[in-house]
Amino acid sequence: MTEPLQPLSPATLTLDDKSYTLPTYAGIEGEKAIDISKLRTQTGYITLDEGYGNTGACESAITYIDGEKGILRYRGYAIEELAEKSRFVEVAHLLLHGELPTTEQFLKFSTRLNESSIIHEDMHHFFNGFPRGSHPMGILATMVASLSTFYPIPDELDSATEIQIVANLVSQVRTIAAFSYKKSIGEPLIYPSYKLKYTRNFLNMMFASPVRDYELDEDIVRAIDMFFILHADHEQNCSTSSVRTAGSSMANVYAVASAGICALWGPRHGGANQQVIQMLEEIHAGGGDGTAFINQAKDKNSPSRLMGFGHRVYKNFDPRAMVLKKQCDKLLNKAGVSDPLFDIARRLEEIALQDDYFISRKLYPNVDFYSGLILRAAGIPTNMFTVLFAIGRMPGWLAHWREMLHGKQVTITRPRQIYVGKTLRHYQDIDQRS
Ligand code: CMC
Repeated sequence: MTEPLQPLSPATLTLDDKSYTLPTYAGIEGEKAIDISKLRTQTGYITLDEGYGNTGACESAITYIDGEKGILRYRGYAIEELAEKSRFVEVAHLLLHGELPTTEQFLKFSTRLNESSIIHEDMHHFFNGFPRGSHPMGILATMVASLSTFYPIPDELDSATEIQIVANLVSQVRTIAAFSYKKSIGEPLIYPSYKLKYTRNFLNMMFASPVRDYELDEDIVRAIDMFFILHADHEQNCSTSSVRTAGSSMANVYAVASAGICALWGPRHGGANQQVIQMLEEIHAGGGDGTAFINQAKDKNSPSRLMGFGHRVYKNFDPRAMVLKKQCDKLLNKAGVSDPLFDIARRLEEIALQDDYFISRKLYPNVDFYSGLILRAAGIPTNMFTVLFAIGRMPGWLAHWREMLHGKQVTITRPRQIYVGKTLRHYQDIDQRS
């Protein structure tokens, strides 16, 4: 399943009049890397790469991205093909186990997810303790970490327990997410149902009530399932790197998953989908076409950015955004469904894509630009958007955690720094300090 790195001609580095030979390698898709693992020992130098934009932190066989060409593949399968033909549970199996499941494997996997969907009854009390109006990402991160107290992990993790923990997390993240929403609106919790498949089950827990069944709309179920597929993995992004970093200390996997959720929350990562809708609502309320917002985003004296635009890796287009835009078109063309924010988003995209500021910096719509509109059409409240991203991303985080755990060896993540603070000084008693 893992293709070995191909050695290339070594690189020569000259430092302080000395030459050093550094091994270089190419991956299966031709990405090249210089191996600097012995650099500090041999030369006394470290590399300086803020944001790790030039640093390969691991070898991984899960997801391939070519940001220049707009390519995203899970385990070799193009995201466009998976979005069109597959379903989220199948994609979760693909990420976690390396292959699309056979019928028998699929049945086994989805049955296990179904059987793991209920959270310990005592956990329900916790939901009552959060203040009304708490952000559901805060609740999700807390509750996922607290799973470790209800489902303790043995010191020696055997493969059967590992598979069960993974199933717990993939399944229970959805139950916790729906419960946190129900609590926030003061409605009784709706339990997961064995009769419903993964995404239907989630929507049912979100929107059904003891006095009212939830009418599942096939197009909405499909759109949310596709949203989960498109968010399921994205190689070494901020939250996945956080998962690998936390996991490298051998912390328990519930805490590790919670670290991923916390990192995802930020507006420059998963939190952007919520910010996009807030931005579109602001433009709508102001009655403009978005030009003023774009000018503000271009102004270096303003912290504002055009949310849903730009990506660390995609410098052409984000393939996930293309799929979602089409899905948005489909959903919002349905009889009875319309959203003025979609027209604003389309206009904003047109204006930005003709503006030299965005063209020269290769800033294109990313996955979050259109995802919020789909979630709105499904009736998902804005503060739940990033929570849905977390549900989708869970199999990816866990696939990376497992890959690390079963790799050559787990090396604790511990970057270096260049110290720029005070040099040695001596303690003064408090009355002598100016
Ligand atoms: N609006 C205005 N200017 C931007 C934007 C934007 N959305 N994104 C980047 N820039 C500018 C930035 O100011 C900088 O300009 P200059 O070179 O003049 O200083 C240049 O483009 C490069 O920006 P950067 O921050 O160095 O780029 P990055 O690769 O570190 O950041 C990003 C990537 C996603 C954090 C950034 O593009 C951004 O903040 N976008 C808005 C937030 C957003 O939509 N995030 C969701 C990302 S996709 C979902 C996910 O995978 O998490």
